[in-house]
Amino acid sequence: MLDFLKSKKTVEARKTVAAPSVVTPVPGPVSKPDLLSVEDAKAMSVEKMTDLFKTHYNPGQLHFMKLLGFHKIKIERAEGMYYYDQNGRAILDFFGGFGSLAVGHNNPRIIAARKKFQDEQRHEIAMAFMSQYATALAHNIAAVSPGDLDMVFLGSSGSEAMEAALKVCERAAGPDRSMVLFAENSFHGKTKGVLSYTDGPLYKSEFKLLENGVKVPFGDIDAIEAAFKAHPEIGTVCLETIQGGGGINTAPAEFWQKLRALCDKYDVLWLADEVQCGVGRTGRFYAFEHYGVVPDVTAIAKSLGGGKCAMAAMIARTEVYMKAYGTPKTALIHAAATFGGIGEGCITAMETINALYEDNLINNAAEVGAYLKSELERLQAKYPDIIKDVRGQGLMVGLEFQDFSQTLPAVMRPAVAMLDDKLKGSLSGFMGALLLRDHDVLVAFTEYNRNVVRLLPPLVCTKENVDQLVGAMDKMMGKGVVMIVKDFIAAQVIEKKTKGKKAA
Ligand SMILES: Cc1ncc(COP(=O)(O)O)c(C=O)c1O
Repeated sequence: MLDFLKSKKTVEARKTVAAPSVVTPVPGPVSKPDLLSVEDAKAMSVEKMTDLFKTHYNPGQLHFMKLLGFHKIKIERAEGMYYYDQNGRAILDFFGGFGSLAVGHNNPRIIAARKKFQDEQRHEIAMAFMSQYATALAHNIAAVSPGDLDMVFLGSSGSEAMEAALKVCERAAGPDRSMVLFAENSFHGKTKGVLSYTDGPLYKSEFKLLENGVKVPFGDIDAIEAAFKAHPEIGTVCLETIQGGGGINTAPAEFWQKLRALCDKYDVLWLADEVQCGVGRTGRFYAFEHYGVVPDVTAIAKSLGGGKCAMAAMIARTEVYMKAYGTPKTALIHAAATFGGIGEGCITAMETINALYEDNLINNAAEVGAYLKSELERLQAKYPDIIKDVRGQGLMVGLEFQDFSQTLPAVMRPAVAMLDDKLKGSLSGFMGALLLRDHDVLVAFTEYNRNVVRLLPPLVCTKENVDQLVGAMDKMMGKGVVMIVKDFIAAQVIEKKTKGKKAA
């Protein structure tokens, strides 16, 4: 009975989407539709780009870009730490593509390696043969991975690497141990498997997801042990080593060491998601290396593509991998997808890893990251009513603002306090928008804890770059939050008036 009602509802819901228009096939040879050329795209105006974004890409997202004033910008080129817009303005990039630009924008040695590869007409797709590029990259990844993290699967997105990681764990743990423990405020990707262990209602929406997850607070070792005891079916613990989307949340070394010991005791596999925090960002190739422990499986992506292409890898301990896929009968259960191990992607990732070591980028992340953190802590001491916390490691740093009411003059606080939940993210929004508009600095926002501004710059970042960011923040905070809000609102009003005039 209930099922019958449900299916009726579904049919009604589907009726709200109009049927596609009927297109009668034109007989004869196919003619070229109205296509834009690459040169058309390069020369496109902001107005045309806005129109196409609205019509063909993501109309809803445009709303947020407009709120922040980001919709007026067309990036013409990028180099090192900077974007350059249509007016030649240099924008200092502390957003860093959410951590996908470790070697900087258009790193010359990455470009040179790719150009040479193209000029030599090397092959990209080699499914029928072994690839010297995929195997060499697998060797390099194994070489930078501690312990016996030696078996490598190549893919093209963090989600894909994490799906591979969860599957290798599930196969190695066995059919009776298919439950996955994950953390509050986790982000592991948007494909349906990993989305099941991503703790964001926005992303989960109302999708039908896997129901074999057990959620615990991040960094709570007692909760993990209690879960292991209550659910012997747990075969995998899936955790970001540093939570990115959760607001740059770290756990102490002691937690990770106890986690390793607990996993060994209960025979559970530890999967470390290093998609955002890995590839040198924290001052070690992997963030877990700070804690003297090695997971059973890990995943990297983002910066692995050298800022030029989509590359990702899952790395498993040999024993785990062999248990899952080690025989001819099991080898093809989860072998590379179409673009896994694509030639130019592999050599780009190889050059990226070589550059990280040869150009001292990992050590630079540690040194400049420590400077960034100390400079932000200095700001926090100066503006304790505005900045609540500074945290992170290397060049993965979060700056958390106080709840909005607390940043205002004392007389205004009680009246505004009841709106704090609704106003979460507003100060980071105002600051982010004004940092870009008035100080040419780009910072990143955070999905779950929207009071946090995320700083994930390229690892080529210098102390002078840090001084520019911190100096700009200091100037803005020095004016006080009331002025920041006024400035932001004034910009919105001017925008609306200009739009009104144009329309008239
Ligand atoms: C920790 C973490 N895991 C997985 C992913 C998914 O990566 P992708 O967007 O490349 O699919 C992300 C992306 O932001 C991430 O931050």
